[in-house]
Amino acid sequence: MSAAVIDGKEFAARVRARVAAHVARLKADHDLTPGLAVVLVGEDPASQVYVRSKGKQTVEVGMNSYEHKLADDISEAELLGVIDRLNHDPQVHGILVQLPLPAHLDSDLVINAIDPAKDVDGFHISNVGLLGTGQKSMVPCTPLGCLMMLREHHGDLSGMHAVVVGRSNIVGKPMAQLLLGDSCTVTIAHSRTKDLPAMCRSADILVAAVGRAEMIPGDWIKPGATVIDVGINRVEREGRTKLVGDVHFDSAAAVAGAITPVPGGVGPMTIACLLANTVTAACRATGLAEPEGLTA
Ligand code: GUN
Repeated sequence: MSAAVIDGKEFAARVRARVAAHVARLKADHDLTPGLAVVLVGEDPASQVYVRSKGKQTVEVGMNSYEHKLADDISEAELLGVIDRLNHDPQVHGILVQLPLPAHLDSDLVINAIDPAKDVDGFHISNVGLLGTGQKSMVPCTPLGCLMMLREHHGDLSGMHAVVVGRSNIVGKPMAQLLLGDSCTVTIAHSRTKDLPAMCRSADILVAAVGRAEMIPGDWIKPGATVIDVGINRVEREGRTKLVGDVHFDSAAAVAGAITPVPGGVGPMTIACLLANTVTAACRATGLAEPEGLTA
């Protein structure tokens, strides 16, 4: 292996420490405790694990955590009522509705009912538009975490060719906007891209966010490139469940200059950036200075 392995676990711990230090200052100097409300509809086991982890880390950095666990047959009107109350609650600076929602609920309608200033996921159409036009917005957590790692590794990203494989609203599209904001030349590639291996091989920065286990092998990677693997895929190997990324780690690490592992790469950064977004939202809501280095 020649690549430097980018340690997302250690980086996320540093982001959380910076958030905790800022929260401590807000409490001491302004009697302000940022609060994050997480809304979970139904009992999807994976969502329950994520929500527990978000609540635990929120409290660990000194913020208030409000969990709203709602029945999976809740009506859209009732759910919109919960969001309206949170929008108007001055103790709540960030609101996250855990996705996916049960099929009878319109996710777009629900997400767009959140006050954009409290939309710490950055999924509200206003935040999508602000990001797309280079204005100050709430930025989706996973791409923000990827950007922080790239900035830390490279410093200046300008002029680099970034290829984002995957066009989701949660990762691919906002990731491309953020890289463009840092003056990369950006290509969004996807399953219909012609000669995807050659496209990937042209990337100085390759962000893989397709959700297909080990789809990208080492011979799709330019020697020395930086590889950010957003995939978290469960596979059965020798009778055990294992987590792997969208990139074939061993062959990619032999070629790349730097690479994020799975697990322990992008994954831990997502919740760290959610905490960062919550403290940013609390500062913006109260007219206080935002923490440095925790936003795009
Ligand atoms: N479900 C999986 N990832 C996410 C995320 O980033 N935000 C929300 N709200 N739900 C998710």
